[in-house]
Amino acid sequence: MTKWRAALNDRSPFLWGAAISAHQTEGRNVNSDWWRFEQDVLRERGIETSGDAADHWHHFREDIDLLAKTGLNALRFSIEWAKVEPVMGSYDQRVLDHYDEVLAYLSKKRITACVTLWHFTLPAWASEHGGWNSRIVRKRFYAYIETCVRRFRSRVHTWSTLNEPMVYLMEGYRWGTWPPRTRSRWQALRMFLVLRSMHRHCYAVLKRHEVARVGIAKSIIVFECTHAANVFRSIKRMLKNWVWNKSFFTFAKRFHDYIGINFYITETVGPKRITHEKDDMGWEVRPHGLGAALREAWTHRKPIYVLENGIATQNDERRIAYIRSRVTDVRRALEEGIDVRGYFYWSLLDNFEWDKGYAKRFGLIAVNRTSMEREPKPSLRTFGDLARKHAGRSH
Ligand code: BGC
Repeated sequence: MTKWRAALNDRSPFLWGAAISAHQTEGRNVNSDWWRFEQDVLRERGIETSGDAADHWHHFREDIDLLAKTGLNALRFSIEWAKVEPVMGSYDQRVLDHYDEVLAYLSKKRITACVTLWHFTLPAWASEHGGWNSRIVRKRFYAYIETCVRRFRSRVHTWSTLNEPMVYLMEGYRWGTWPPRTRSRWQALRMFLVLRSMHRHCYAVLKRHEVARVGIAKSIIVFECTHAANVFRSIKRMLKNWVWNKSFFTFAKRFHDYIGINFYITETVGPKRITHEKDDMGWEVRPHGLGAALREAWTHRKPIYVLENGIATQNDERRIAYIRSRVTDVRRALEEGIDVRGYFYWSLLDNFEWDKGYAKRFGLIAVNRTSMEREPKPSLRTFGDLARKHAGRSH
């Protein structure tokens, strides 16, 4: 047995999974701020709105079956606050029952559940009250997560309180490209502080219920210098790295049981020598970029879950090559002694890619949005085979 297989078996089971989020896949998130933004802004720009999305709400069993059959053993998905609490102060019990059913089905299929409590969307009423800037909204959010943890605790393996706070504050508060469409450096900075303190609060709420793994899904950008000898560029690289990758964790180590990373982007600081090929998002795909992201995450010396990593492409051969190279990165990281505990490909399904609509295809499974028929792509099988091989267990 190779060294890294032994490392995996030590901490069995290593999670090989796929990730999705509620708004992007379930459909009809009609009481959310995003739904309104889509009708007001995206429609005008001629971009398709989320609508029924992949109708994962009604097709979750089928989607979980496909994942389980392939050999993957985990699903990361989000619970939608805007559906749970469509009106301030009143929970929709049918929605909570629905998530109960999802979790029960996952457990029946022996699929580990990793839950995100907030993945970019707010209930429309919360955004009318000022979003995360409002203390009342934050309090309601803590009450909502308390409800979730009480109800779902026994079936959830890993909790992520917030998805990509840095991306959210840049898109929503610095560039104004996402709701609430604010463009202010100061508001963005304030949002950073708000989200960081919110995470700590959420951590405390969840920990009161003695759950084992609580963290966030943190976007990591790998900053590379082409001319490392240049001292100014090296300093710039360090600063960028600190601001984007480290600042959320600073003075907050004890509020993260694990380091959850979402990795897509490598950025060159200074002039570029080589132009790498890009995916359909315009993001450069660099070989073995995930390795550098894992080394960055390992500076915190905590177990790491790669909660998202994927490529937007219509060419599934490219996706297959991408997944192979990412699995190799994970293997090498384990060999280096980095404590990686899971890898989730983004995404299980082709889905709603926020302000880009449906044109970008990250999925392992294609969805016909008229019939809602699922068509697994060859990459799903490849990923499943790799997972099976490396997990040393089958399903
Ligand atoms: C987000 C996903 C998004 C993906 C691709 C991540 O930033 O968490 O919601 O679809 O990247 O853009």
